[in-house]
Amino acid sequence: MAWIAGERVILRAWERDDVQARWEADQTADPTEVRLRDWHEPPRSLASREQEFDAALAEPDDTTVALIIEAEGRAVGDVNLFEIDVRNRRASIGLSVWRQDDRNKGYGTDAMRAMLGWAFREYNLHRVELSVDPSNVAAVRVYEKLGFVHEGRRREAHYSGGVFIDDVMMGLLRPEFLE
Ligand SMILES: CC(C)(COP(=O)(O)OP(=O)(O)OC[C@H]1O[C@@H](n2cnc3c(N)ncnc32)[C@H](O)[C@@H]1OP(=O)(O)O)[C@@H](O)C(=O)NCCC(=O)NCCS
Repeated sequence: MAWIAGERVILRAWERDDVQARWEADQTADPTEVRLRDWHEPPRSLASREQEFDAALAEPDDTTVALIIEAEGRAVGDVNLFEIDVRNRRASIGLSVWRQDDRNKGYGTDAMRAMLGWAFREYNLHRVELSVDPSNVAAVRVYEKLGFVHEGRRREAHYSGGVFIDDVMMGLLRPEFLE
């Protein structure tokens, strides 16, 4: 399959040039964004990211499906299924629209809907789940729009910005998405 089509975006495989596009976008992140994206790693060079990309290409990980979100002919973000559990037909999902300028245009929702459609219809998953910082209102809104159900709150489960914060667990089942 060449790509997965949304309404306004397509999801396609990562190419080496995308590593640079992502790295350049990361240089524009402000402190709030760093916190919301849960970035704990120190600043990293483009060369080290390219090295990581090459290593992942050499040794594919079958518990992850990582795709680029392309809109208006350029890479604007990425969406990933990870911790894929074949026996229980379950996976976690992550979503990022890299640049502030590209947010609130519907790309994140469209990309997530396309990935979920593929995950449930083609890949035959039964459940997709995620955890989110409840103060990340844009992310929570996207997940709620797509039918994710709030399943619980883990108190002070996460260390972020110098304090322990709660995280919210959300999940979506195949029949809920397809109905
Ligand atoms: C979360 C994220 C992926 C959403 O992508 P996006 O392309 O901006 O999403 P969309 O444009 O499809 O939808 C955003 C929704 O949030 C709403 N929203 C945005 N900021 C908001 C705010 N401050 N208060 C309330 N709603 C807000 C928008 O109005 C829109 O909802 P609507 O369609 O009902 O109007 C993007 O903000 C992002 O990459 N953030 C940084 C990384 C991140 O937080 N990833 C998720 C980690 S769990």
